[in-house]
Amino acid sequence: MRILYVVGTRPNFVKTAPVIGALRERLPEGRHTIVHTGQHYDRLMSEVFLEELGVPAPDHMLEVGSGSHAQMTARTMERLEPVLVAEAPDLVVVPGDVNSTLAATLTAVKLGLPVAHVESGLRSFDMTMPEEVNRIVADRFSELLFLHSEEAVANLRAEGIPDERMHMVGNTMIDTLVALEERFRSVDSAARLGLEPGSYALVTLHRPALVDGPLLAETVARLSALAREMPVVFPVHPRTRKMMEGADVDRGDLLLSEPLGYLDFLSLLADAGAVLTDSGGIQEETTYLGIPCFTLRDNTERPVTVSAGTNTLLGLDPQAIAGIPAALAARGPAPGEPPPLWDGHAAERIADVIVGER
Ligand code: UD1
Repeated sequence: MRILYVVGTRPNFVKTAPVIGALRERLPEGRHTIVHTGQHYDRLMSEVFLEELGVPAPDHMLEVGSGSHAQMTARTMERLEPVLVAEAPDLVVVPGDVNSTLAATLTAVKLGLPVAHVESGLRSFDMTMPEEVNRIVADRFSELLFLHSEEAVANLRAEGIPDERMHMVGNTMIDTLVALEERFRSVDSAARLGLEPGSYALVTLHRPALVDGPLLAETVARLSALAREMPVVFPVHPRTRKMMEGADVDRGDLLLSEPLGYLDFLSLLADAGAVLTDSGGIQEETTYLGIPCFTLRDNTERPVTVSAGTNTLLGLDPQAIAGIPAALAARGPAPGEPPPLWDGHAAERIADVIVGER
């Protein structure tokens, strides 16, 4: 059996690494081909992750780079098509909801190749988010849909997708976290920054709705105010860095850094007193780790993280940052179990389904 995996961005690597590992184990005689679109290309956004996750070097690098949505999607399709024709895989595996996911799905289905979508069925119901469009297309055209939470079933049924295509397998991003736990627990990144565990807030921001306009300067000013009450560690995504360079922002006492490797980041996450983010994956990781997460968005495609008791939606409203210390002080007991099947074995279930379908 020939399986081809298409990855392009930092979170794609995290979600796909355990799937590649589980399928290589089940199908040692099979051909496993990794295609890296190059949507993320900085060493800290790409290579470091592949190394830490133990992903073999990609077989094909498409070097698509940055651009408008149409440019990135078109370039990926154009460069991926000959690879798919030459490799003739029996299955194309695509994770998540980024532009590489959209482009790979369309290219494969147009060639009549079956697609498996990992992290299927998430919906924010906000079509202004590029990821929402990407998810809908990937789910509509994938033959195998791998789900990680119950609400995905209702979302997919509402779009007329039959149950036979859905497989509730759990969360492969949590597989990676579980697999790395011993390593990241021993890194102690907080101590290297002179921070006490539980004493600081960890911040990540990169969504266009927040960082591509005037909200960014206001958000950074509010974070500087928060930094007067607790240390604020802020590894800055390249998109956000570029926007910060162009804007007049007051960085105050913020502990700014380059993007971090995954072990470093997970270490800081696990020891944080609070996390402030607009990321999707970090809402999930904090839910698994039981860390209070405040999400600077009006909606989430991951409502299970809110019902689990770790995630609070602040809205797309930088002023709400001022309420974080009071919200932390008023918090009840730590929430209980992570959602069902967020247990470190999702990729094995995916491999079972794929091998069983042969
Ligand atoms: C992309 C995904 C987003 C995901 C995020 C994870 C889409 C539409 N967006 O957002 O869903 O949550 O990845 O990180 O697919 N850049 C660099 N170096 C890099 C990569 C990007 O400098 O290695 C800069 C470039 O200026 C680029 C900008 O970041 O134009 C945005 O990159 P892009 O891949 O378009 O979107 P992200 O914001 O990274």
